[in-house]
Amino acid sequence: MQHSPDNSSCRKAYITTPIYYVNDVAHIGHAYTTVIADALAIYSRMVGHDTFFLTGTDEHGQKIEEAAKARGKETQAYADEISGKFKALWDEFGISYDKFIRTTDTEHKQGVQFAFQKMFDKGDIYKDVYKGHYCISCETFFPKIQLVDDEFCPECGKPTSIVEEESYFFRLSDYQDRLLQWYHDNPDCILPRSKRNEVIRFVESGLEDLSVTRTSFDWGVHLPEAINDPKHVMYVWLDALMNYLTALGYGTDNTHMDQWPARVHLIGKDILRFHAIYWPAFLMSLEMPLPKHIAAHGWWTRNGEKMSKSKGNVVNPKEVADAYGLENFRYFMLREVPFGGDGDFSQRALIDRINSDLGNDLGNLLNRLIGMSGKYFEGRIESDLVGKYYQAELNAMRESITKLEPLLFEMQIHRYLEELWRPLSVANKAIDQYQPWTLMKEGREEEAMALNGLIATILANVAVMLHPVMPKTTTAIAGALGFEITQENYEKLIQKAGMLATFTVEKIPPLFPRIEEAVLVEKTEEKKIEKAPAKTEEKEEGVAMIGIDQFFQTSLKIGTVIQAEEVPKSKKLLLLQVDLGDGDVRQVVSGIKEWYSPEALLDTQVCLVANLKPAKLMGIKSEGMVLAAKDKEGLVLMRPEKPKKTGTAVS
Ligand code: MSP
Repeated sequence: MQHSPDNSSCRKAYITTPIYYVNDVAHIGHAYTTVIADALAIYSRMVGHDTFFLTGTDEHGQKIEEAAKARGKETQAYADEISGKFKALWDEFGISYDKFIRTTDTEHKQGVQFAFQKMFDKGDIYKDVYKGHYCISCETFFPKIQLVDDEFCPECGKPTSIVEEESYFFRLSDYQDRLLQWYHDNPDCILPRSKRNEVIRFVESGLEDLSVTRTSFDWGVHLPEAINDPKHVMYVWLDALMNYLTALGYGTDNTHMDQWPARVHLIGKDILRFHAIYWPAFLMSLEMPLPKHIAAHGWWTRNGEKMSKSKGNVVNPKEVADAYGLENFRYFMLREVPFGGDGDFSQRALIDRINSDLGNDLGNLLNRLIGMSGKYFEGRIESDLVGKYYQAELNAMRESITKLEPLLFEMQIHRYLEELWRPLSVANKAIDQYQPWTLMKEGREEEAMALNGLIATILANVAVMLHPVMPKTTTAIAGALGFEITQENYEKLIQKAGMLATFTVEKIPPLFPRIEEAVLVEKTEEKKIEKAPAKTEEKEEGVAMIGIDQFFQTSLKIGTVIQAEEVPKSKKLLLLQVDLGDGDVRQVVSGIKEWYSPEALLDTQVCLVANLKPAKLMGIKSEGMVLAAKDKEGLVLMRPEKPKKTGTAVS
């Protein structure tokens, strides 16, 4: 990030997270982006920048409409519920956002319509017919060449459908050269820089005009009235990206428009194309300045595996924060993964960071200072003689501290934290090397006082610079040293490399109690899968006679398989979404993988036991059972001889 030499308070810092889809609740990926953005916002406020931090939810589109339908809910009510959960989580996490935007907000919709009209009037939007392969899940059209096996989405692997519809198009192709010029003139417009090269290669290969409206569903922002084409709603990505402007009042009251352009849009690498190509092109069309930086982070996995709902291994940020402490979790996420790279969540890695970095290096240092300053100086430390005895250590600390801001501005947050730990190591070594107890024994009280001053000064510097990542913890550390983390103290200690003249050290309870073993229970999915088939076999034995009324207690229905995928790591199981009509979509885990591929099952009909109590297989909830006949030659599904209406009862 460009780093202006002055930190005057007139500098603007508009920081954004992506707005999160409301088809799912928050997981570690969402928490990661939000926490990085929060840390940047806290930092910007601390150094006196006029900061505006935006987050929110992305609520339109077919995906959301379908998610609501699958749960039998009205779309707006469903969006309200999930959006409310995101907001409640960020509030519980103390995320310091200035605005939480929802794309269903009236002002947002007005702002998007205003922008659409502007682009339309300019001639950047025209009407035509679109035919292409569309992935509902990613809300994206893909050229055939990019599809997997000519059918499946290259991003999420789900089947695409051919959509032919009248559409309005944005003249993206007209912006190719100007985009390339922008990337060229602003080497750090996309961070990390390696990602910028990927984007440049993509744009150089040629841009097609972008379809920016849909007629196949209704859950979206309608076109401006003046265009008079009511069957069209806006493409969700146009709607969603515009949030960064509408949140400031674009197209309505302009209240915060002085914050534009954004200092940084934080995003995950999967949505880089939308932010680094479409978004600047839209802005160019609107004749608005472009964001300073688009920073794309990597992907979180769990114990080395991709996280997914079907695997049941999604990391729930609230669970982790409750189990290990919110700020420890914040530190872990930001320290563990090089920004831009993929990272793995494991409880072991988190525990190691807490015990080692936080407990040993930081917590123990504070405890040592509390102990020795209390014992020798009743907690009152003067730091005027630190330079006389420990200039080398002070220099080493300052060398690290001056490297920090540029690292933060380049989004190298893991390196920022790594560098911040060097002064702690200098301090811990200084205690071991100069031994305050020996100094005191030898009557070298002045040196012992200076040593205490050195340690307190290092801890004060570290507390200030760690504040954005661990705000409460560092406030407690500052409290224990008798100072406050303020802009004034930031300027004194960090900017001007000054000293706090005195410290009054007070004992506080240990900040990082040692953790011996994992607090959260890991799922032992493989064990469950071994057991599951055995149970079924037992059931097949010893068939007893039943009456017709008993038979009718079983609800059998014709269902249509609308989604099918493999259950990872399982040799036997497939995960099916079976539509029973009227919005009743069942998730069914079925042991038929040896005989049927997911592709072969898609859009075919099955006979489903619809009133089985839900059970879990490999940690995945199964809400029904497909009927099949099996002998030594294999297994075949029981299906209607001719297609029947989805949901038809079988008797
Ligand atoms: N609604 C769009 C964003 C629109 S912004 C104008 C969207 N939403 S999302 O909820 O699907 O994803 C939000 C963010 O979460 C993205 O930045 C995405 O990269 C991030 N993550 C989702 N899963 C992730 C991991 N497993 N790991 C890290 N981040 C990931 O996309």
